[in-house]
Amino acid sequence: MQTVHTVAELRQQLATWRAAGECIAFAPTMGNLHAGHIDLIHAGLTQASRVVASVFVNPLQFGPKEDFGRYPRTLPDDAAKLEAAGCDLLFAPSVEAMYPHALPLTTQVQVSQVSEGLEGAFRPGHFEGVATVVNVLFNLVRPDVALFGEKDWQQLAVITRMVRDLHLPIEVVGVPTRRESSGLAMSSRNQYLGDAERTTAAVIYATLMTIAHELQQGSRDFRGLEQAGMQALQAHGFEPQYVAIRSPDLQSPANENNSLVVLAAALLGKTRLIDNLRVAL
Ligand code: PAJ
Repeated sequence: MQTVHTVAELRQQLATWRAAGECIAFAPTMGNLHAGHIDLIHAGLTQASRVVASVFVNPLQFGPKEDFGRYPRTLPDDAAKLEAAGCDLLFAPSVEAMYPHALPLTTQVQVSQVSEGLEGAFRPGHFEGVATVVNVLFNLVRPDVALFGEKDWQQLAVITRMVRDLHLPIEVVGVPTRRESSGLAMSSRNQYLGDAERTTAAVIYATLMTIAHELQQGSRDFRGLEQAGMQALQAHGFEPQYVAIRSPDLQSPANENNSLVVLAAALLGKTRLIDNLRVAL
Protein backbone atom coordinates (compact mmCIF):
# COMPACT_ATOMS: atom_id res chain seq x y z
CA MET A 1 0.00 0.00 0.00
CA GLN A 2 1.16 3.47 -0.85
CA THR A 3 0.62 6.41 1.53
CA VAL A 4 0.40 9.90 0.05
CA HIS A 5 0.05 13.22 1.83
CA THR A 6 -0.49 15.68 -1.00
CA VAL A 7 -3.23 16.28 -3.55
CA ALA A 8 -0.71 16.07 -6.42
CA GLU A 9 0.56 12.61 -5.39
CA LEU A 10 -3.00 11.39 -4.90
CA ARG A 11 -4.10 12.58 -8.33
CA GLN A 12 -1.05 11.07 -10.00
CA GLN A 13 -1.68 7.59 -8.62
CA LEU A 14 -5.40 7.74 -9.36
CA ALA A 15 -4.80 8.91 -12.93
CA THR A 16 -2.70 5.79 -13.59
CA TRP A 17 -5.41 3.49 -12.28
CA ARG A 18 -8.17 5.31 -14.12
CA ALA A 19 -6.23 5.15 -17.39
CA ALA A 20 -6.01 1.37 -16.88
CA GLY A 21 -9.80 1.23 -16.53
CA GLU A 22 -9.78 0.33 -12.85
CA CYS A 23 -12.89 0.77 -10.70
CA ILE A 24 -12.18 2.74 -7.52
CA ALA A 25 -13.80 2.39 -4.10
CA PHE A 26 -13.23 5.00 -1.42
CA ALA A 27 -13.59 4.93 2.37
CA PRO A 28 -13.11 8.29 4.10
CA THR A 29 -12.17 8.15 7.80
CA MET A 30 -10.72 10.27 10.58
CA GLY A 31 -8.30 7.50 11.55
CA ASN A 32 -7.75 5.69 14.84
CA LEU A 33 -9.07 2.74 12.92
CA HIS A 34 -10.95 -0.19 14.43
CA ALA A 35 -12.61 -3.28 12.96
CA GLY A 36 -15.67 -1.25 11.89
CA HIS A 37 -13.50 0.92 9.63
CA ILE A 38 -11.76 -2.15 8.27
CA ASP A 39 -15.17 -3.57 7.31
CA LEU A 40 -15.48 -0.59 4.93
CA ILE A 41 -12.22 -1.62 3.23
CA HIS A 42 -13.40 -5.22 2.92
CA ALA A 43 -16.70 -4.02 1.45
CA GLY A 44 -14.76 -1.84 -0.99
CA LEU A 45 -12.69 -4.80 -2.15
CA THR A 46 -15.88 -6.63 -3.14
CA GLN A 47 -17.06 -3.63 -5.20
CA ALA A 48 -13.98 -2.35 -7.00
CA SER A 49 -10.51 -3.28 -8.21
CA ARG A 50 -8.80 -0.57 -6.12
CA VAL A 51 -9.61 0.68 -2.63
CA VAL A 52 -8.55 4.11 -1.44
CA ALA A 53 -8.86 5.21 2.21
CA SER A 54 -8.38 8.65 3.68
CA VAL A 55 -7.36 9.56 7.20
CA PHE A 56 -8.08 13.20 7.95
CA VAL A 57 -9.33 14.73 11.19
CA ASN A 58 -11.50 17.40 9.62
CA PRO A 59 -11.57 20.63 11.66
CA LEU A 60 -14.69 21.86 9.83
CA GLN A 61 -16.95 19.26 11.44
CA PHE A 62 -15.99 19.86 15.09
CA GLY A 63 -17.77 22.44 17.24
CA PRO A 64 -15.67 24.89 19.29
CA LYS A 65 -16.20 22.85 22.49
CA GLU A 66 -15.69 19.47 20.83
CA ASP A 67 -12.68 17.13 20.81
CA PHE A 68 -10.80 18.20 17.63
CA GLY A 69 -7.58 18.83 19.59
CA ARG A 70 -7.61 15.56 21.52
CA TYR A 71 -9.10 13.33 18.80
CA PRO A 72 -6.78 10.27 18.70
CA ARG A 73 -4.23 10.47 15.87
CA THR A 74 -2.54 7.12 15.22
CA LEU A 75 -1.41 7.25 11.59
CA PRO A 76 1.35 4.55 11.62
CA ASP A 77 -1.04 2.04 13.24
CA ASP A 78 -3.81 3.03 10.85
CA ALA A 79 -1.55 2.55 7.83
CA ALA A 80 -0.53 -0.93 9.05
CA LYS A 81 -4.18 -1.95 9.55
CA LEU A 82 -5.20 -0.65 6.13
CA GLU A 83 -2.33 -2.42 4.43
CA ALA A 84 -3.19 -5.71 6.18
CA ALA A 85 -6.82 -5.30 5.03
CA GLY A 86 -5.79 -5.01 1.38
CA CYS A 87 -6.22 -1.27 0.92
CA ASP A 88 -4.30 0.03 -2.12
CA LEU A 89 -3.78 3.69 -1.29
CA LEU A 90 -3.95 5.84 1.83
CA PHE A 91 -4.47 9.60 1.50
CA ALA A 92 -3.43 11.29 4.75
CA PRO A 93 -3.28 15.03 4.12
CA SER A 94 -2.39 17.77 6.59
CA VAL A 95 -4.99 20.47 7.25
CA GLU A 96 -2.90 22.78 5.04
CA ALA A 97 -2.85 20.27 2.18
CA MET A 98 -6.62 19.87 2.32
CA TYR A 99 -7.44 23.51 2.93
CA PRO A 100 -4.56 25.57 1.48
CA HIS A 101 -6.55 28.77 1.79
CA ALA A 102 -7.55 30.37 5.06
CA LEU A 103 -10.34 28.73 7.04
CA PRO A 104 -13.31 28.97 7.25
CA LEU A 105 -13.81 27.89 3.65
CA THR A 106 -15.78 30.31 1.54
CA THR A 107 -17.60 27.43 -0.12
CA GLN A 108 -19.69 25.13 2.06
CA VAL A 109 -22.05 22.32 1.23
CA GLN A 110 -25.33 22.39 3.08
CA VAL A 111 -27.74 19.49 2.85
CA SER A 112 -30.93 20.80 4.42
CA GLN A 113 -33.77 18.79 6.02
CA VAL A 114 -32.00 15.48 6.48
CA SER A 115 -29.16 17.16 8.40
CA GLU A 116 -31.57 18.99 10.72
CA GLY A 117 -32.62 17.43 14.04
CA LEU A 118 -30.89 14.57 15.89
CA GLU A 119 -27.10 15.09 15.46
CA GLY A 120 -27.75 18.33 13.59
CA ALA A 121 -29.60 19.76 16.60
CA PHE A 122 -26.86 18.89 19.08
CA ARG A 123 -23.89 19.60 16.80
CA PRO A 124 -24.65 22.83 14.92
CA GLY A 125 -22.58 23.07 11.73
CA HIS A 126 -21.40 19.45 11.99
CA PHE A 127 -23.05 18.16 8.84
CA GLU A 128 -21.99 21.21 6.81
CA GLY A 129 -18.43 20.30 7.80
CA VAL A 130 -18.96 16.64 6.92
CA ALA A 131 -20.72 17.31 3.59
CA THR A 132 -18.07 19.87 2.64
CA VAL A 133 -15.07 17.66 3.39
CA VAL A 134 -16.67 14.61 1.77
CA ASN A 135 -17.43 16.67 -1.32
CA VAL A 136 -13.81 17.88 -1.45
CA LEU A 137 -12.57 14.29 -1.02
CA PHE A 138 -14.99 13.03 -3.69
CA ASN A 139 -13.63 15.68 -6.08
CA LEU A 140 -10.05 14.62 -5.38
CA VAL A 141 -10.56 10.85 -5.48
CA ARG A 142 -13.49 10.72 -7.94
CA PRO A 143 -14.45 7.24 -6.74
CA ASP A 144 -16.96 4.96 -8.43
CA VAL A 145 -18.14 3.62 -5.06
CA ALA A 146 -17.97 5.19 -1.60
CA LEU A 147 -18.36 3.27 1.66
CA PHE A 148 -19.97 4.72 4.78
CA GLY A 149 -20.89 3.04 8.07
CA GLU A 150 -24.49 2.63 9.15
CA LYS A 151 -23.21 3.45 12.64
CA ASP A 152 -23.52 7.11 11.60
CA TRP A 153 -26.98 6.67 10.08
CA GLN A 154 -27.73 10.35 9.66
CA GLN A 155 -24.32 10.99 8.08
CA LEU A 156 -25.00 8.19 5.59
CA ALA A 157 -28.39 9.79 4.83
CA VAL A 158 -26.80 13.24 4.37
CA ILE A 159 -24.13 11.92 1.98
CA THR A 160 -26.67 9.87 0.02
CA ARG A 161 -28.83 12.98 -0.41
CA MET A 162 -25.85 15.15 -1.40
CA VAL A 163 -24.78 12.64 -4.06
CA ARG A 164 -28.33 12.50 -5.38
CA ASP A 165 -28.87 16.27 -5.42
CA LEU A 166 -25.49 17.07 -7.01
CA HIS A 167 -25.69 14.21 -9.56
CA LEU A 168 -22.34 12.88 -8.40
CA PRO A 169 -21.53 9.70 -10.34
CA ILE A 170 -20.83 7.74 -7.16
CA GLU A 171 -22.60 4.76 -5.66
CA VAL A 172 -22.89 5.23 -1.89
CA VAL A 173 -22.84 1.92 -0.03
CA GLY A 174 -23.79 1.55 3.66
CA VAL A 175 -21.85 -0.95 5.77
CA PRO A 176 -23.44 -2.58 8.87
CA THR A 177 -22.28 -1.48 12.32
CA ARG A 178 -19.47 -3.49 13.87
CA ARG A 179 -19.98 -4.06 17.63
CA GLU A 180 -18.01 -5.26 20.63
CA SER A 181 -19.28 -8.54 22.10
CA SER A 182 -21.14 -6.43 24.70
CA GLY A 183 -23.14 -4.83 21.88
CA LEU A 184 -21.29 -1.49 22.17
CA ALA A 185 -20.87 -0.02 18.68
CA MET A 186 -17.17 0.32 17.87
CA SER A 187 -16.04 3.94 17.80
CA SER A 188 -12.77 5.82 17.98
CA ARG A 189 -14.30 7.75 20.89
CA ASN A 190 -14.76 4.55 22.98
CA GLN A 191 -11.17 4.91 24.11
CA TYR A 192 -12.14 7.98 26.10
CA LEU A 193 -14.18 5.60 28.32
CA GLY A 194 -12.88 4.24 31.63
CA ASP A 195 -13.36 0.51 32.38
CA ALA A 196 -16.61 0.97 34.33
CA GLU A 197 -17.96 3.36 31.70
CA ARG A 198 -17.18 0.91 28.93
CA THR A 199 -19.36 -1.70 30.65
CA THR A 200 -22.16 0.82 31.14
CA ALA A 201 -21.87 2.01 27.52
CA ALA A 202 -23.36 -1.29 26.30
CA VAL A 203 -26.69 -0.14 27.81
CA ILE A 204 -27.25 2.07 24.76
CA TYR A 205 -27.46 -0.96 22.48
CA ALA A 206 -29.59 -2.84 25.05
CA THR A 207 -31.98 0.13 25.15
CA LEU A 208 -32.24 0.22 21.35
CA MET A 209 -32.88 -3.54 21.35
CA THR A 210 -35.68 -3.16 23.92
CA ILE A 211 -37.39 -0.52 21.76
CA ALA A 212 -36.90 -2.64 18.63
CA HIS A 213 -38.51 -5.58 20.42
CA GLU A 214 -41.51 -3.48 21.48
CA LEU A 215 -41.97 -2.25 17.90
CA GLN A 216 -41.75 -5.79 16.61
CA GLN A 217 -44.35 -6.83 19.20
CA GLY A 218 -46.70 -4.29 17.62
CA SER A 219 -46.32 -1.19 19.80
CA ARG A 220 -46.74 2.05 17.84
CA ASP A 221 -46.55 4.36 20.86
CA PHE A 222 -43.47 6.04 19.38
CA ARG A 223 -43.43 8.89 21.91
CA GLY A 224 -43.82 6.54 24.87
CA LEU A 225 -41.05 4.24 23.64
CA GLU A 226 -38.70 7.18 23.08
CA GLN A 227 -39.38 8.52 26.57
CA ALA A 228 -38.89 5.10 28.16
CA GLY A 229 -35.55 4.84 26.31
CA MET A 230 -34.44 8.24 27.63
CA GLN A 231 -35.39 7.17 31.17
CA ALA A 232 -33.54 3.86 30.88
CA LEU A 233 -30.37 5.67 29.81
CA GLN A 234 -30.75 8.23 32.60
CA ALA A 235 -31.22 5.44 35.16
CA HIS A 236 -27.82 4.03 34.14
CA GLY A 237 -26.01 7.34 34.61
CA PHE A 238 -26.11 8.65 31.03
CA GLU A 239 -27.08 12.14 30.08
CA PRO A 240 -29.23 11.21 27.06
CA GLN A 241 -29.58 13.79 24.27
CA TYR A 242 -32.14 11.97 22.16
CA VAL A 243 -33.80 8.62 21.66
CA ALA A 244 -35.73 8.83 18.42
CA ILE A 245 -37.77 6.50 16.24
CA ARG A 246 -37.71 7.50 12.58
CA SER A 247 -38.31 6.10 9.12
CA PRO A 248 -35.05 4.96 7.44
CA ASP A 249 -34.83 8.33 5.64
CA LEU A 250 -35.28 10.07 8.99
CA GLN A 251 -38.87 11.24 8.55
CA SER A 252 -41.35 10.96 11.43
CA PRO A 253 -42.41 7.34 11.89
CA ALA A 254 -45.80 6.22 10.63
CA ASN A 255 -47.85 3.19 11.59
CA GLU A 256 -47.58 1.76 8.08
CA ASN A 257 -43.74 1.86 7.87
CA ASN A 258 -42.39 -1.67 7.34
CA SER A 259 -38.95 -0.60 8.50
CA LEU A 260 -37.90 1.91 11.15
CA VAL A 261 -34.67 3.07 12.71
CA VAL A 262 -34.16 3.80 16.39
CA LEU A 263 -31.40 6.32 17.07
CA ALA A 264 -29.80 7.48 20.30
CA ALA A 265 -27.12 9.89 21.49
CA ALA A 266 -25.97 10.19 25.09
CA LEU A 267 -23.14 11.53 27.15
CA LEU A 268 -21.45 9.10 29.50
CA GLY A 269 -19.19 11.22 31.66
CA LYS A 270 -17.50 13.45 29.10
CA THR A 271 -17.80 11.00 26.21
CA ARG A 272 -20.52 11.45 23.63
CA LEU A 273 -21.79 8.17 22.17
CA ILE A 274 -24.24 7.55 19.32
CA ASP A 275 -25.83 4.38 18.02
CA ASN A 276 -28.83 3.23 16.03
CA LEU A 277 -30.68 0.07 15.14
CA ARG A 278 -32.69 -0.71 12.04
CA VAL A 279 -35.94 -2.57 12.79
CA ALA A 280 -37.78 -4.65 10.20
CA LEU A 281 -41.51 -4.84 10.97
P1 PAJ B 1 -15.01 8.24 11.27
O1 PAJ B 1 -15.77 8.49 12.53
O2 PAJ B 1 -13.55 7.92 11.35
O3 PAJ B 1 -15.74 7.08 10.51
C1 PAJ B 1 -15.32 6.73 9.21
C2 PAJ B 1 -16.34 5.76 8.64
O4 PAJ B 1 -16.36 4.56 9.43
C3 PAJ B 1 -17.77 6.33 8.65
O5 PAJ B 1 -18.43 5.99 7.45
C4 PAJ B 1 -18.38 5.63 9.85
O6 PAJ B 1 -19.79 5.50 9.78
C5 PAJ B 1 -17.70 4.27 9.77
N1 PAJ B 1 -17.75 3.57 11.07
C6 PAJ B 1 -17.41 4.07 12.27
N2 PAJ B 1 -17.65 3.17 13.25
C7 PAJ B 1 -18.17 2.08 12.64
C8 PAJ B 1 -18.62 0.81 13.10
N3 PAJ B 1 -18.61 0.49 14.40
N4 PAJ B 1 -19.07 -0.08 12.19
C9 PAJ B 1 -19.11 0.24 10.87
N5 PAJ B 1 -18.69 1.42 10.37
C10 PAJ B 1 -18.22 2.34 11.24
O7 PAJ B 1 -17.38 9.47 9.97
C11 PAJ B 1 -16.32 10.06 9.88
O8 PAJ B 1 -15.13 9.53 10.30
C12 PAJ B 1 -16.19 11.44 9.25
O9 PAJ B 1 -17.37 12.17 9.49
C13 PAJ B 1 -15.88 11.42 7.73
C14 PAJ B 1 -17.00 10.75 6.93
C15 PAJ B 1 -14.54 10.71 7.48
C16 PAJ B 1 -15.75 12.88 7.22
O10 PAJ B 1 -14.76 13.57 7.90
